[in-house]
Amino acid sequence: MDARSRRRFLGICLGGVLAGAGATVLYPLVSYLAPRRGSGGGSKVTIPAADVPEGAAKFFEYNGKTAVVIRQKNGALVALSAVCTHLGCVVQWQKEKEEFLCPCHGGRFNAAGLVLGGPPPKPLESIPVAAVNGIITVG
Ligand code: FES
Repeated sequence: MDARSRRRFLGICLGGVLAGAGATVLYPLVSYLAPRRGSGGGSKVTIPAADVPEGAAKFFEYNGKTAVVIRQKNGALVALSAVCTHLGCVVQWQKEKEEFLCPCHGGRFNAAGLVLGGPPPKPLESIPVAAVNGIITVG
């Protein structure tokens, strides 16, 4: 192998190594930044109705953010963004009180998402929800 062939061979090897390193760095970055797709993260999410008994809340991923569906004690379903409208913390469901509590600054919302107290300036964002044949569809 002469010097020219060796340089060409080393150039090809270096190019392959750099391409692999670039893909290793870029793939996770692009995956993280790209909108989520598929069940659980798309514009419509399906949940078995049995997963949300009366008085319970089920949290899930909706369009890249945390959302929640609640079955109130009267049987009505409500789907809401679980992102607090104050500074964006994820609210927690207080089953015994039937309200949401924000762990960051004590914001409180009722089961319909309306502000009960604390600093949140507006209600939790409402999301369309329907239940057909034992399947809850949100979105
Ligand atoms: S972020 Fe929820 S009350 Fe401040």
